[in-house]
Amino acid sequence: MYPLIRNRRLRTNEAIRSLVRETIISPNDFLVPLFVVEGKGIKEGIASMPNYFRYSLDVLQDEVKELWKLGLKSVLLFVKVPDHLKDNKGTEALNPNGLMQRAIKTVKDACPEMLVMTDVALDPYSIYGHDGIIENGKIVNDDTAEVLAEMSLSHAEAGANFVAPSDMMDGRILTIREALEDHGFIDTGIMSYSAKYASAFYGPFRDALDSAPADVKDIPKDKKTYQMDFANRHEAIRETEMDIDEGADIVMVKPGLCYLDIVREIKNTVDVPVAVYQVSGEYAMLKAAAEKGWLDHDAVMLEQITAIKRAGADIIASYFAKDVSRLLND
Ligand code: PBG
Repeated sequence: MYPLIRNRRLRTNEAIRSLVRETIISPNDFLVPLFVVEGKGIKEGIASMPNYFRYSLDVLQDEVKELWKLGLKSVLLFVKVPDHLKDNKGTEALNPNGLMQRAIKTVKDACPEMLVMTDVALDPYSIYGHDGIIENGKIVNDDTAEVLAEMSLSHAEAGANFVAPSDMMDGRILTIREALEDHGFIDTGIMSYSAKYASAFYGPFRDALDSAPADVKDIPKDKKTYQMDFANRHEAIRETEMDIDEGADIVMVKPGLCYLDIVREIKNTVDVPVAVYQVSGEYAMLKAAAEKGWLDHDAVMLEQITAIKRAGADIIASYFAKDVSRLLND
């Protein structure tokens, strides 16, 4: 009882605070999302994501070498697909010489040890900006899962270590796992976006890839028939457990900060690594507030990342990965 126990003793100075600190962040925690475009010499800003860029393959080489030097050893690749290559079925996604396939090889050439994960979803390839094939105004599940499996095979052939399906079709993890096994890609992992919510925080990402759902008659304007309702919690557990049963090596909760209750619950329930995606809108919010001088950028960034890890994240996909690693290295 007080005064025998005074909790403030453990907070007296930085030495004792660091001795009893429960959550430590390091570059090892991060997965770095990278946006790739066609062209040469391109490092292109994204208006709604200050200080984040799209890279052409030549510049991407330098970027991944820099990441490696900072201790960042895993990347998650996304491609911005030229409009004329988009269709309803993601045909270009299967092109063995497509931008994603070349990006995988580029990263591996520049930095052979870098772990390469790839986004597997149709939206950057879709004229409608949806993660699935559309028929009669609906996103069709099983045909989409088949394309995602072919896409995964194509990424594995190009050298990806992990495929990361971000689409939320039912059964796609099993379809992908079976395809990989059947073709001998027994070591290619699957990081499943298991509990991915239909979130308004994805706006800046859709700017980055020009992948927002199109405003076309009779086409859904949002992704609510496949991404989860943000009011739901039990459903996140069910989705996650099913993905593990289907063969997911890593599961994910997305977005991050507003969903840390879900992260903790999943962490307490499953025994595979749990990833959290701190998404583009979360990044944009802090950048905007910091630009206005309303928040201390680095302090809030570290607090947020630590909170995500404290909630149970084993892996954090974050646009702040480089900023945090630089800060930790200083
Ligand atoms: C699409 C995809 C999205 C993100 C990753 N993959 C957007 C969406 O579902 O519309 C969002 C990432 C972010 O906002 O940072 N398959």
